Order: sequence, then structure tokens, then C-alpha cells
Amino acid sequence: MFVVRDMLLGMGTVAFDLKDRVQALLPSMLEMRRDFHRHPELAFQERRTSAKLADHLEKIGLEVTRNIAETGLMARLKGGKPGKTVMVRADIDALPITETTGAAYASVAPGVMHACGHDGHATIAAHVATLFSQMRDQIAGEVRFVFQPAEEIVQGAKPMVEAGVLEGVDRVVGLHLFNQLPVGTVGVRPGPSMAAADAFTLTLHGKGGHAASPHLAVDTVVIASHIIVALQTLVSRETDPVGTSVVTIATVTAGDGAHNIIPEVAELKGTLRTFDPTLREHLMRRIYNLASGIAAAMGASAEISWRPGSPAVVNDAPLTERFRGIARELVGDKLIETPPVMGGDDMAEFLNRVPGVYFWVGSADASTGRDKPHHHPGFDFDDERTLPLATELLARTALDFLK
Ligand code: NI
Repeated sequence: MFVVRDMLLGMGTVAFDLKDRVQALLPSMLEMRRDFHRHPELAFQERRTSAKLADHLEKIGLEVTRNIAETGLMARLKGGKPGKTVMVRADIDALPITETTGAAYASVAPGVMHACGHDGHATIAAHVATLFSQMRDQIAGEVRFVFQPAEEIVQGAKPMVEAGVLEGVDRVVGLHLFNQLPVGTVGVRPGPSMAAADAFTLTLHGKGGHAASPHLAVDTVVIASHIIVALQTLVSRETDPVGTSVVTIATVTAGDGAHNIIPEVAELKGTLRTFDPTLREHLMRRIYNLASGIAAAMGASAEISWRPGSPAVVNDAPLTERFRGIARELVGDKLIETPPVMGGDDMAEFLNRVPGVYFWVGSADASTGRDKPHHHPGFDFDDERTLPLATELLARTALDFLK
């Protein structure tokens, strides 16, 4: 039993048993998570999810602003005493995947699925709000709940920031469920923990022609091949091996299916993953220089367009240390230091501006088959055990960060 005593102001020996209160919320959490799971919505289409959350938060007495960045929302819980402002962030969108779990609460939206656990994230943050609404007088400061849309396309956080949700915020905290870790485990690392993820499209312009007369054409297929191979040297030969980065070409498009036509245009789509902002800029420049240099040398031209993603997720080191102390009390040696993840998350947009922590909560249960990786059509997690643990941990962290 954990008794929250140190954040009570002027309450003397009044004790507040967080664990029992969280356990009492379990039926409500399961109902909400499974409802969201049954009705997933894609990026910037989370109207039902957002409205349900807003209704819940209004009902428990929070000051709610709806429709921020289209389908996001913010809910403010002002404590009984003045103090710092801590933002709790959750993402709410689903993925374009057809679910195969066969669960009773499986998606009823064709081709759309909560395959990343954001149904869990939204539920956890909403119930931290419920918990805090029951102890409002004892909270010194403001806890601001931000539910952002469109994390899966890393486009939701930035417009939320531009709409002002970070104004006056001193610290931010958020979590991601993690099916690579068993339920009961918590992971975190100080400093860079998730990569910046930028997408690019390289378009090559050559000269089309008959496949039997290559000397009269400029063959974009051959040029694209040279570029693809040369791009592999950016990480292997130009980047400090101690650093971590990825350059991947994921889509190659040229020609229309003919056997006898040299295509005039070829298109390469890829992603760049980095942790260091200087390296990120360097590699963005080098990808274009290398591609355009090779294209020019072979008589073609190249252009590039970038869809910049979010920056790297960087955890504040002192706050991470504080978080570790809290997590250790809850899960003991099941607290681990997770390696950096090459996936991106636009939680970075908040952490880039305000110090905070983004942590992982293990959610897999192999005994019930709920241990598939994120973004898998069979993805599901152990909600009965993960939701209470994650809610208690997030609540305790937010309370600590108010200090
Ligand atoms: Ni996710």
C-alpha cells in the first residue's frame, strides 16, 4: 500500500490510498479501453474517441477544451493550492490494419485497428484524471491532460503545441505500452530514447526510350540502383559507428510494367532515423547531395522532398532519475533501462520544449497470446494487469513532478 502523504498540503495525517483507488477503477478502465478498441479511428478522424473522453472529463469536473488540432482535447484540473503545472499526454489514434485477434471487443471498423495500444493510453490518462478529481483539494498546482490526435503519422502533437496547450507547463509526462516487455516491467532511459523519423521522396528525371536502344535514353532504373547502393555508405562509412542512425529506401517505383521501355522517371521513398540533431541535418543534406551527384554524373537530375517528422524523444535526465525512484517502489527490479528505439513518436514535440519523461510500460502476456508486436494485426495486451499498474505509475509520477 502506498500512502500519498508528502504531496498533501495542510492535510496533516490524512492518507490517500492510491493503489486501492486505482483498483476500484478497473471495471471502468476495462470498459473504456475495450470500447475504444471496438471503435478505432484513424489520425485526425478521432471524433468519437475525443467526444467520449471530453464527456468523461467534464463529468468528473475538469475544464475541457474540445477540438484542438481538429480532434484533440485538453482538460485542466486545478488543484486546491497553487503550484507547478504538469502536462499528462496521451495519444488516441488507431492504424489502417484489419484486426485478426478474434477478441470479443475486436474492431468493428473495417480496416482500422488499435494495434499500437493508444486505446490503452487514452484510458490510462483519463483515469489518472478520475483519480485526481477525487483528491483535488490535496493537489498543489495544475495537472493538464492533453489527448493528441494523429500520433501514428506524427502530425498531431505540433498543432496542439501551436494551439497553446504547453503554455505555462513546467513538466510533461507520458507513457507508451510495450509488448516487447512482459506486463509488470517498466522501461525508461535518460536522454535520447526514440529517434527522429523523417520521410523523403527522391525523384529522378532521365530520358525515356526503347529498352533495345539504351544509348538513346538516360536510364533512371540503373541510376536509381546506383543511388540506392551509394546511400548505404552514409551510415556505414560516413557516420561515427558509436552514433545510431538508419537510412532506408522502402519504395522503388519506375516504369508501368512493360518489359521494353526505359522509364523517364524513377521515384525512391525512404526514411531517415537519427537521435542527434546535427547528424540529422548532415544526413538530410548528404542524401540529396549523393543522389543528385550520381544522377548528374549519369546524365539525369534529381529532386528531393522531405516530410519532416518529429525530433528525437529526449528524456530529461534529473526527472528520469526521479521517475526511476517512483517506478522502483512499484515494480522493484522489474524496472529496466531500455535501449534507444529507432521508432519515432511526436511526444518529442512536447519534450523538445518542456523537460519531462516518456516511459515504457510492459504489456505482454504470452500465456493468453497477447504478446504480438505493435502494429501487428493480432496485437492485443494484458489490459487487466497493465491498466492499473500504468495508471498508478503515471499518477504517482505526475504528483511527484508537481513538486
Ligand atoms: Ni504508438
